[in-house]
Amino acid sequence: MIRVGVLTASDKGSRGERADESGKLIMERVKEIPGEVAEYIVVPDDRETISENLRRMADELELHLILTTGGTGMSPRDITPEATMDVIDRVVPGIPEAMRAKSLEVTNRAMLSRAAAGIRKRTLIVNMPGSKKAVDECLDVIIPVLKHGIEIMR
Ligand code: MTE
Repeated sequence: MIRVGVLTASDKGSRGERADESGKLIMERVKEIPGEVAEYIVVPDDRETISENLRRMADELELHLILTTGGTGMSPRDITPEATMDVIDRVVPGIPEAMRAKSLEVTNRAMLSRAAAGIRKRTLIVNMPGSKKAVDECLDVIIPVLKHGIEIMR
């Protein structure tokens, strides 16, 4: 079974000021991979906090996959791609390329997401935008290939 971590980057979510519908949607859809959620956290849009948690989930929990939502845009606090790049050993550009390409068919705002993806040791980390709709659309793109990609890393 593929063990998955879900990390929501949201200042408001981390303060309990906004319900994390996007994180909950990821947790529901993980079974389509098929996978199981081993860890779920909501953290503020803080580079160190995000990267520390990604490292912990990869190195200590040895999760196969970490899916993040939020903080991929262009507002001053959006920092998830940088926190991801801080911890990965190898980039996997095709995943965000595919998410943006497919998403552009739905909204031209898809080009505003700076989402990244990469591998730390044997953990694949994939960023997705923050909205529930965007997460749903991006999961449609990546879920069909995640199992194969993760099997190759083992
Ligand atoms: N991708 C999909 N598939 N659907 C969307 O509605 N919204 C875009 C984009 N990617 C969107 C999408 C918008 S409006 C923004 S601002 C960026 O993702 C960044 O979102 P984030 O800052 O919440 O991560």
